[in-house]
Amino acid sequence: MQNHDELIAKLPKTELHLHIEGTLEPEMMFDKARKHGIKLNHGTVESLRAAYDFANLQAFLDLYYAGADVLRDEADFYDLTWAYLLRAKADNVVHAEIFFDPQTHSARGIALSDVVNGIVGALTDGEQHLGITWRLIPNFLRHLSEADAMATLTELQQFMQHFHGFGLDSSEVGHPPSKFSRVFAKVRALGLPVVAHAGEEGPPSYIIEALDDLKVTRIDHGIRAIEDAGLTARLAREQIPLTVCPLSNVRLRAVTSLEAHPLKRLLTAGCSVSINSDDPAYFGGYVGENYRQTAKALQLTPEELKTLAAMSIRGSWLSDAAKAKHLADIAAA
Ligand code: HPA
Ligand code: ZN
Repeated sequence: MQNHDELIAKLPKTELHLHIEGTLEPEMMFDKARKHGIKLNHGTVESLRAAYDFANLQAFLDLYYAGADVLRDEADFYDLTWAYLLRAKADNVVHAEIFFDPQTHSARGIALSDVVNGIVGALTDGEQHLGITWRLIPNFLRHLSEADAMATLTELQQFMQHFHGFGLDSSEVGHPPSKFSRVFAKVRALGLPVVAHAGEEGPPSYIIEALDDLKVTRIDHGIRAIEDAGLTARLAREQIPLTVCPLSNVRLRAVTSLEAHPLKRLLTAGCSVSINSDDPAYFGGYVGENYRQTAKALQLTPEELKTLAAMSIRGSWLSDAAKAKHLADIAAA
């Protein structure tokens, strides 16, 4: 088997599915805990990392929300985002569309202005100094109520100039997209596109609901579409981007192994698929590592790798001119 690491390193990459809270590395978690006088449940970086053995999505979310508690002020959100951008730069990421979870922070009494200003400050510096363009996407937590999401949307209106769309994440099963029909209608009425996590652990019907009810323009994960031939054909026909996160899917046991991952089958079926890192500090690798391990496990060809990188650019919210430039760089890689 040929080694494609050199090509992967060269490919200009876009991240369309990245939770900034999921880039909180244990070292920074301990730093911030020390700064704020917080006692963590784990004594060392090693024992914390050893706890990253998840039975399912919920087991991960419990730890992920607990970890986010060390993020308390604007500087923390800046540092978190800046550290991510440095890692992204090392992977030749040229554009990042980043999620954050406002309710995770507002529920702890953190001012949303600190969250937004910290993240946007680092993203702005990253664009200037690292050349990484960006979009910012607040996600609603689907385990919370529709009313809570609606109140959060109202609170976020003052920062709307920084947001490019809205999304939906957290515990999937039992919280179908339709729970948030009215919230998403309101976002769309404000003129912003919407996306949603669907078909990660939840059934293919959640993907259909996200499309028909929430009118999303992209599906985050979407891997369980492979169980429904009609849906797979529709996703291919409509070229709905699926922001796939292979290492996340293995770590959260949405798939039994990387070798069994449906990414290549979705690609072969004509779907628009991209490779993303989701919560890289928790799942064992940033976007480059997702490319490398997936290429090896699924024996992806150089052409397929270039196609994946190109689909990621096409699925982004970049301007047509910016897309054309990156697509030309991918063709030349
Ligand atoms: N799924 C749902 N919610 C999340 C995830 C995910 O993979 N990562 C962070 N929040
Ligand atoms: Zn996610």
